Amino acid sequence: MAATTGDRRRFFGRLFNYANNGLTIAGLVLTTLSGLLIIVFVIAQLWGGLDNPYIGLFAYVFLPVIFVLGLIEIPIGMWRRRHKLIKEGATEEELSAFPKLDFNDPHMRRFATIVIIMTALNTVILGAASFFAIEEMETVSFCGETCHTIMQPEFTAYQNSPHSRVACVDCHIGPGASWFVKSKLDGLRQVWHTALGTYQHPITTPLHTLRPARETCEQCHWPNKHHGDKLRIFSRYGSDEKNTPSYTAMLLRTGGGSLDIGRAGGIHWWHIYSDNRIRFVSSDESREEIDWVELTTADGETRVYTRDGDELPPQDTRDAARIMDCIDCHNRPTHTFHPPGKAMDWIIDTHPEFVDLPFYKRQAVAAINGGYDSHAAGMAAVQKAVADFYATEYPELAAGDPELVARGAEWAAQAYGKTVFPAMDTNWETHSNNIGHDDFPGCMRCHDDEMSTSDGEHTIPMDCETCHIFLVEDSPDYPDFAYALEAD
Ligand code: HEC
Ligand code: HEC
Ligand code: HEC
Ligand code: HEC
Ligand code: HEC
Repeated sequence: MAATTGDRRRFFGRLFNYANNGLTIAGLVLTTLSGLLIIVFVIAQLWGGLDNPYIGLFAYVFLPVIFVLGLIEIPIGMWRRRHKLIKEGATEEELSAFPKLDFNDPHMRRFATIVIIMTALNTVILGAASFFAIEEMETVSFCGETCHTIMQPEFTAYQNSPHSRVACVDCHIGPGASWFVKSKLDGLRQVWHTALGTYQHPITTPLHTLRPARETCEQCHWPNKHHGDKLRIFSRYGSDEKNTPSYTAMLLRTGGGSLDIGRAGGIHWWHIYSDNRIRFVSSDESREEIDWVELTTADGETRVYTRDGDELPPQDTRDAARIMDCIDCHNRPTHTFHPPGKAMDWIIDTHPEFVDLPFYKRQAVAAINGGYDSHAAGMAAVQKAVADFYATEYPELAAGDPELVARGAEWAAQAYGKTVFPAMDTNWETHSNNIGHDDFPGCMRCHDDEMSTSDGEHTIPMDCETCHIFLVEDSPDYPDFAYALEAD
């Protein structure tokens, strides 16, 4: 049955009739424009020209939303228009052919063809857009730079960390769909807070919604790997005129392994590997105060440690105790905000010539601790304070080696730049590091010699040799282990 010209005219006439309303037209315009723009951006992306995170956010998040809104508006407008026409007394004959699902009817076939083609086209556009949206949201630049001010502290620290080549999502989301969805829902909440300006300053830590670290870290760090003892040499510098160095060398008993493979022990094995399990209850959100610790050993024995005189936390709190994982120690594997003293030690260690700048460490630390209104102002002020110190107190040095003074001042400013972020109220004091015990309680949250089993048989040990063996302590000279090679 071939459709006559009259049929066709009537069909399109009706379609235009229904579509002839503000809402549907607006929807058509929005969908067409955003669809075309998305196509342009996708082509630009394939061309390799799109690495700005804001363009990504616009092209793959904002535009698709507009696109879908437009799509939804079109039928709503048509539906309202149809009702209006009926109300105004349009004849039944004009309207009845439209919704009848009779595929012998050429109108219906044409309408269905249009709907199918448009739907297929829209699916392709949306599919491509969401594919790129997801890919975009996985990128480091999206996570780290889109909301520049908010993420500046974490992003800056990340760029200077051992994980600067690991994508944010590898630690924050990990493999599998369920955490992907959870993180996207959480992301929507964050976008909302960002839009309203009600986000936290600083972003509080620890993250209570972080995926259990063993599911993320263990993609790369093999759980049963036996690390053995690790040689660490700490270079520290004094606040005196000579920036006097002091070196400590130790073997950190990192350990690891498992009973199955026959090599087991040390820090890693004791706290996280499956042979042993530690759970703990903390009375504060920051997990700094630990009140109750339970160890389940490889042979199934359970030991509970508490501090003398402390009340036992309620049963339901104990039932919900946190299972210790990587980030209870490595809470700053990548967003490390170094205390100014440690930051300057590292700088002097890697630039030995700065030892020749009198009181360099003392002046730099004082300048970094200055308290400034903004990150940029702080960096400039630290640089100026250090340079001015030499210009006024050591004019001969400043005149004799201006380049050394300038570089010293520049590096002090860098140290500030990596650890202090006034806009987010973030610095080394707001984000403690749980590895060690020098600047923060860290290991000593439990290993304070006060947490014992009720029978007094076991105490979480504080002896220095439990965790590290000193090879050299506070030596003025860099430790020389060459003798170990000579001995036979
Ligand atoms: C090596 C793994 C790793 C990578 C890579 C990583 N993070 Fe994190 N991040 C963490 C851990 C672990 C914490 C939680 C610390 C805690 O809960 O105590 C964290 C915490 C955060 C926090 C909360 C504030 C804070 O400092 O505790 C923000 C924000 C954040 N990360 C953003 C990012 C962004 C943006 C990127 C990529 C530029 C990124 N992270 C890459 C592991 C990682
Ligand atoms: C995608 C792989 C990957 C993931 C996921 C990952 N790491 Fe790493 N990590 C690395 C690599 C690679 C290095 C070595 C970097 C180097 O030596 O320059 C490293 C180094 C480390 C180091 C040694 C740092 C140092 O100062 O030498 C620690 C500690 C560490 N990771 C902990 C973690 C923790 C905790 C997590 C989970 C929150 C994690 N990593 C997740 C790849 C990863
Ligand atoms: C009880 C605290 C604790 C826990 C829990 C812990 N670590 Fe460690 N880890 C340490 C200490 C301490 C070191 C040595 C740090 C140093 O070199 O200064 C270390 C070192 C490392 C290193 C570097 C090893 C090397 O030889 O260079 C990696 C990688 C690492 N840890 C990954 C992990 C991962 C992944 C997890 C979780 C599966 C984890 N750690 C759990 C305390 C812990
Ligand atoms: C949440 C509490 C807690 C924290 C935090 C903690 N530990 Fe432990 N640790 C324990 C418990 C419990 C034991 C088992 C004590 C026992 O033997 O009775 C233990 C045992 C150890 C052992 C083995 C002791 C032995 O008998 O050989 C080492 C080594 C160790 N811890 C190092 C560390 C280091 C390093 C850190 C910090 C990076 C740390 N721990 C942080 C609870 C903790
Ligand atoms: C529960 C484990 C543990 C115990 C007990 C312990 N330490 Fe440590 N200590 C560590 C870890 C882990 C580090 C490495 C921190 C890091 O990687 O920055 C460390 C680092 C150090 C450093 C170097 C600090 C720096 O940054 O310059 C000194 C000094 C030190 N410990 C002294 C001691 C002394 C003295 C004792 C005994 C009273 C002791 N520790 C007991 C775990 C422990």
